Amino acid sequence: MRYPSVHTKLVGLFGHPLGHSLSPAMHNRVFTKLGMDYLYLPIQVEANDLKTVFNGLIRMNFAGFNVTIPHKVRILDFMDEIDPLAEIIVAVNTIRITGGRARGYNTDGIGFITSLKTSHDAAVSGKTLLILGGGGAARAITAISAAQGAQRIYLCNRTLGKAQSMAADLNARTRDIIAAIPMDGPALRDVMPGCDILVNATSVGMHPRTDAIPIDENLLYPGLLVVDLVYNPRMTRLLTCAQKAGCRILGGLGMLVYQGAEAFRLWTGTEPLVDEMFAAVEEAAPKP
Ligand SMILES: NC(=O)c1ccc[n+]([C@@H]2O[C@H](COP(=O)([O-])OP(=O)(O)OC[C@H]3O[C@@H](n4cnc5c(N)ncnc54)[C@H](OP(=O)(O)O)[C@@H]3O)[C@@H](O)[C@H]2O)c1
Repeated sequence: MRYPSVHTKLVGLFGHPLGHSLSPAMHNRVFTKLGMDYLYLPIQVEANDLKTVFNGLIRMNFAGFNVTIPHKVRILDFMDEIDPLAEIIVAVNTIRITGGRARGYNTDGIGFITSLKTSHDAAVSGKTLLILGGGGAARAITAISAAQGAQRIYLCNRTLGKAQSMAADLNARTRDIIAAIPMDGPALRDVMPGCDILVNATSVGMHPRTDAIPIDENLLYPGLLVVDLVYNPRMTRLLTCAQKAGCRILGGLGMLVYQGAEAFRLWTGTEPLVDEMFAAVEEAAPKP
């Protein structure tokens, strides 16, 4: 193993609490395999300290950062430039530092699109999507799907008001194709048969509440592509029910890896070893 030196390029992950992040394993494995003098470090920082820590670190040898909960929106204030997609999503999960200047990106949506393409040769263009959720992941997926030509997007969240304001905001920023609907009641049952892709962007079904499912399983039907962004466990109850109902299924690990692959390209200008990234997250993921 190569030890860090003063020349080593650093990459950091900001978050709080960081817990068991898979990103250090994913990136450091590829840096090592490719013989690159880079090191990826988890940096747990509280919201009140974010500005001080960020301003200090960009004076060091950092090529960039990842950003996770709860800093993805606040960090926008510290960017010199913001990529148009991150501006629409209003959240940054990747930062590239060049010449002391910070440019913010959001690679979550690209991770989702690439995962669909590589695993099912599927695209969102011309498709009707039902997206469950109203948080950061739902916003990233809705924004990129609208930008990439989805025909219609239904946004369905437990707190309907959040879905309504997100739909109104993204309709104005992208294309006017997004409608908010309640999680219970007839609207969901009415729109389901016309959907091509269902995405769970809620945390329902995540460890340790693995018996939970975000939608009535009787609404699932053959041919529907069901994507669960939850990756712990790999096979959620939603995916198990969807498989039984004859749906095509996709878990969240691919999105995690492909958003990381895009960040890797931005920091290094080098093509990552995606298979090694998958192997690293498989090994580092908590076992059931
Ligand atoms: N695969 C990947 O790369 C990837 C990337 C990002 C996120 N994710 C996963 O996506 C999920 C959402 O992440 P996020 O960042 O969007 O989180 P978030 O901003 O905290 O949003 C959480 C969402 O889950 C909903 N929710 C929580 N508990 C619920 C319940 N009991 N019943 C119904 N809805 C419930 C919330 O509804 P309310 O608005 O009503 O509270 C909200 O819409 C997480 O599981 C995360 O691990 C995966």
